[in-house]
Amino acid sequence: MPTQSTSPHLPFGENKQADWYGKDIISVKQFKREDLETIFDVAHEMRGMVERIGTFDLLKGKILANLFYEPSTRTSSSFTAAMERLGGSVIPINEVKYSSVSKGESLPDTIRTLECYADVIVLRHPETGSAEIAARAARKPVINAGDGIGEHPTQALLDTFTIVEELGRLENLNVTMLGDLKYGRTVHSLARLLSQFRDIKLNYVSPDILKMPREVMDEVTAKKVPQAEYSSLEKVLSDTDVLYVTRVQKERFEDPADYEKVKGAYVIDPQVMQAAKRDMIVMHPLPRVGEISVDFDDDPRAAYFRQMEYGLYVRMALLAMVLGKA
Ligand code: NCD
Repeated sequence: MPTQSTSPHLPFGENKQADWYGKDIISVKQFKREDLETIFDVAHEMRGMVERIGTFDLLKGKILANLFYEPSTRTSSSFTAAMERLGGSVIPINEVKYSSVSKGESLPDTIRTLECYADVIVLRHPETGSAEIAARAARKPVINAGDGIGEHPTQALLDTFTIVEELGRLENLNVTMLGDLKYGRTVHSLARLLSQFRDIKLNYVSPDILKMPREVMDEVTAKKVPQAEYSSLEKVLSDTDVLYVTRVQKERFEDPADYEKVKGAYVIDPQVMQAAKRDMIVMHPLPRVGEISVDFDDDPRAAYFRQMEYGLYVRMALLAMVLGKA
């Protein structure tokens, strides 16, 4: 009889020796290639478990505080779904105006409060560096769900997982990031994370005022990963394996007139995509506001909805890891 290979080996005891037990997730700089392999293995198992049984009790009794000072649909609800699918529960604070933050409470005090009730805190905040400040105040693990224009590490992990699941490799890749590379925190994290891999080339296509920050490019250069900047997509589209499209981050502009100048700079539609390979993928962290036409959604290369689903499995893996259960 064939052996059943479907049963995942997820130990139910808390493993305090595990590398990620009790750790904060603040920046992609914390992750080495070996860590990604572990996360993706666990995420893969999570996917299998969700498909087979939906919800299971790995994190039963654990509580997540989901603290969002900025709007969110995917990140917030996928962390909630991840915790609940693992049998845990969630304190949702999506509208800080109904919390003591509106009375002027500081971030460290809010964090100290929530960790009295929760085992792990997910934080989205408009200021770069806020996740680090929160982590310093907390004894429990803090997971950065976006700190202003800084980083969005769990998004970069799910983006990288998406590339592996869709294309089967993390090498020999031409990755083109398109749109608002200045204010888009997802591309800051993704460029840094991908720079750990060999045979990757990064292309940045943006309007002049929305270029990838020098600081991120310098870090990528230090890893010896080739990168190049363009203002037009045409030059690189036909060689691209992963086209990562981003929204122009209206809320981050100091001068609204600047936003108006660049808002419709690039639009991906079936016609533009005729110049691209057949075996490439188009990704987007979402939400989109016009930069990918809905007419492209049915194209098999449109990976952005699948990308959202991969996010659930990666976040399940991360929660299990920091809580010592993976
Ligand atoms: C992104 C974010 O919040 O940085 N969204 C997300 O988390 N999926 C991208 C964006 O808002 O444009």
